[in-house]
Amino acid sequence: SKPRLVVVGSLNMDIVVETKRYPLVGETLMGDKVSFIPGGKGANQATAGARLGAETAIIGAVGDDPFGGQLLNSLQENGVDVSGVKQVAGMSTGIASIYVSEGDNSIVVVPGANYRVEPADIDRHEDKLRQADVVLLQLEIPVETVLYVARKAKSLGKTVVLNPAPAQPLPRELFEYIDYLTPNRTELSRYTRMDTDDQSLEKAMQCMRETGAAHVITTLGAEGSAYLTEEGTMQLKRGYKVPTVDTTGAGDCYNAGLACAIADGRSLDEAIEFASLASALAVTKFGAQAGMPTEAEVIRFKEEQNG
Ligand code: RIB
Ligand code: NA
Repeated sequence: SKPRLVVVGSLNMDIVVETKRYPLVGETLMGDKVSFIPGGKGANQATAGARLGAETAIIGAVGDDPFGGQLLNSLQENGVDVSGVKQVAGMSTGIASIYVSEGDNSIVVVPGANYRVEPADIDRHEDKLRQADVVLLQLEIPVETVLYVARKAKSLGKTVVLNPAPAQPLPRELFEYIDYLTPNRTELSRYTRMDTDDQSLEKAMQCMRETGAAHVITTLGAEGSAYLTEEGTMQLKRGYKVPTVDTTGAGDCYNAGLACAIADGRSLDEAIEFASLASALAVTKFGAQAGMPTEAEVIRFKEEQNG
């Protein structure tokens, strides 16, 4: 049977402006193009999870504007169970204002309804948590809710993956419930208050693991990712060289790939391999959810890489 994933997290409409360069402070710049694309770290990870072969449900919230319905449609078209998403009257759906320039991006998120996801919503959908193999979390909903989910999921014996993005102050207790913690280099530096350049990375990851998270995996963009072995030494896993179109959502794809493979009972090394292949493919396409690969595409890409 398929691995089962539950994502508790954000849904955003990404308002993506393509521009040759970023505007300077106080500058008005003419951009090239605007697109409205489903995004939000939670919804991105759920979409990727479903495409990568997991039976996937999302718990979250949208507002009562047109964006909310569009985001739900998109998730449904990708096979995600959205019965855990509530609509909040009088609130706007989360949006992300994104500049994309030369494949890189900068993002401002306005959470709107995402900040109304509360512990009561988790209780209402407890059956979803019970049925899950892996519970996947990020930080675009209130931290109290993330803590509540993690605690509950752990007490139900579930595997919990936390993508600690965007970086923010977290209660120490949260880390105790986390099986896999997946910061990027910048987030790792924020949480540990340490340097995370190549020389310092291993130390910073060891420091991160002292919080209580069972496994720490650092995503390194094009360079790949790194994880700590049981003995606490750092292992680098290479990334795959691909033509970069848009990195938006690549981290989300990585997290979904990792969660799917773990839910499927694969080893950490294999799960990281799968996540690396999937996220490389995500980078080659425009748009967060629009760019998520399918399991079949990942398998084909893997064969191309190894043959
Ligand atoms: O991780 C990428 C996502 O971050 C975007 O889709 C945007 O919505 C922001 O939440
Ligand atoms: Na992409």
